[in-house]
Amino acid sequence: LRSHRTGADLAGTHLVVSAGGTREHIDPVRFIGNRSSGRQGYAVAQAAVSRGARVTVVAANVALPDVAGADVIRVVSAEQLREVVLKAAADADAVVMAAAVADFRPRQYQESKIKKTAESMDAPSIQLERTRDILAELSAERSSQHQVVVGFAAETGDASGGVLDHGRAKLAAKGCDLLVVNEVGADRGFESEENQAVILDRDGSATEVPHGPKSELAHVIVDLVAQRLGSRHS
Ligand code: CTP
Ligand code: CA
Repeated sequence: LRSHRTGADLAGTHLVVSAGGTREHIDPVRFIGNRSSGRQGYAVAQAAVSRGARVTVVAANVALPDVAGADVIRVVSAEQLREVVLKAAADADAVVMAAAVADFRPRQYQESKIKKTAESMDAPSIQLERTRDILAELSAERSSQHQVVVGFAAETGDASGGVLDHGRAKLAAKGCDLLVVNEVGADRGFESEENQAVILDRDGSATEVPHGPKSELAHVIVDLVAQRLGSRHS
């Protein structure tokens, strides 16, 4: 696999990569967000550019230098991310959903800043509603039957199963081709430059990527995408 990495094995392909974390605004100054830095998504975009792909990055609130050689489109919310990704995916050979997308958003947006007036002694409550699942939508409505769809899952083990059990169930539920599963905890996976993951393939196979730089994991993800693209006509 490594031998492909210096060449242009993705020349002529278009990859869409979402990165970062969405923000769902409550009022003009407040939002519900998450800890995703965008590093892993940017590393995938960088790896794909270096292998000759045309790359569109859909960046949700990422504070990193742009990926040289990629088109970067900035978004804030889950719904904006959805619109931009679906549009970009129309002519994409592969879509990698590395962004952490909000599952819920405030049902109502307050046009002006919410004040803590002296009279209102009760803390306000924020009603939430579900966002749409972009990865499931992309997987179900592929622009071509050969389009490769990759998801990410940050999991923790719990009483109902281990990290990989949750990963297998999520891969099946989403309907994507590959799911990059990493175990998260208080100090694992987020702001770090490093990552460790198991990439589950819908064909049942799994690729373990030991702890190392996010760029290394990125190249393994791109290897698997390239493999699928390479075998799509055979
Ligand atoms: N995802 C998405 N749209 C959403 C939520 C998630 O496209 N509204 C994508 C993420 O970009 C990621 C994958 O789905 O590639 C898995 O995200 P994750 O949060 O792990 O899965 P959920 O289905 O939201 O399940 P849960 O958070 O309950 O574990
Ligand atoms: Ca989620």
